Amino acid sequence: MLIKKRTGIEIPSSEITPQSVYLSRRQFMRGAALSTAAIAAGGVLAACSSPEAEPGVSSTNLATGSSTEVGAVQTAMPGAVSATTDELGDPLNSFEDITNYNNYYEFSTSKEAVAPLAKDFPTAPWQVEVGGLVNKPKTFGLEDLMAFEQEERIYRLRCVEAWSMVIPWVGFPLSKLLNEVEPTSAAKFVRFETIEDREHMPGVKSPLFPWPYVEGLRLDEAMNDLAILSTGLYGEPLLPQNGAPIRLVVPWKYGFKSIKSIVKIDLVDTMPESLWMKSAPNEYGFYALVNPNVDHPRWSQATERRIGEFGRRETLMFNGYADQVAYLYDDPNYDTTQATRGGK
Ligand code: MTE
Repeated sequence: MLIKKRTGIEIPSSEITPQSVYLSRRQFMRGAALSTAAIAAGGVLAACSSPEAEPGVSSTNLATGSSTEVGAVQTAMPGAVSATTDELGDPLNSFEDITNYNNYYEFSTSKEAVAPLAKDFPTAPWQVEVGGLVNKPKTFGLEDLMAFEQEERIYRLRCVEAWSMVIPWVGFPLSKLLNEVEPTSAAKFVRFETIEDREHMPGVKSPLFPWPYVEGLRLDEAMNDLAILSTGLYGEPLLPQNGAPIRLVVPWKYGFKSIKSIVKIDLVDTMPESLWMKSAPNEYGFYALVNPNVDHPRWSQATERRIGEFGRRETLMFNGYADQVAYLYDDPNYDTTQATRGGK
């Protein structure tokens, strides 16, 4: 993965962003250091819909400049990024793709509907309460979160639905926040919770899901340097559809682990039960490692469609991050074939 420390935004986003959006971003940024299915399918809930349901999304290949949709005009990228590809040489997805093709069931189960529905979601003021098995519980305000040194991380995001993108995130290692609250020796897992804002999130009225959205990591997974809390992308603060003002990004696991708009983080001693484990335990497990050898019960995970490309590419074990994370799963008692669904 590409890791680069950044200190500022080099292209004024006012040049490429509607003024209203620009101004609300600026409000959010004030004082910041980064100056940063439910579809019932035969009665079974799906983390994200089936792969066949994916609509086409246009994208410009930044390396070649070619567009995959005839006549599609891609806007310039907001903010500056340090590279146009990931470390494997694959081009970044466009800002347009990343901010208009979203899974965020609190707003909608339709990917294209999320951005317009989330447009006015209030992301400030915001607090993240961190507690549980820690010596120094703390409630972090936005200023506290932005005070962590913000870095650019170019990661692949692989959705369990078998599509993927390359995204230039901005954020900081989750370990830095956890170290600040000092987990006790009894802490074994980290539990994350999304805001449940009934006024602004139309999807949470759906009885199909056990809201709020909850996810979890083992503590050693959470301390791995690849796990970040993201506050932005493409050098700009996150937009609501991507989980503003703060979301988790765990690039070696399926995208549903990367929980958005976090308001609560608890250190706990037992494995948290996520929204997806509760909703469809036969399909979604705790570990959810990207693993081309373990199919979803309803579709193959061997290949994926990179948004903006035609055809399919092979899915990489751990989404291509084996060198950094495989050690976490060395325990011979741990069966990685169980890691994707129904994981222990
Ligand atoms: N977080 C919350 N709170 N609600 C969601 O519906 N969807 C997940 C994940 N985080 C989701 C969520 C899924 S299925 C994916 S693939 C990613 O967010 C998508 O992130 P993106 O829209 O920023 O690409």
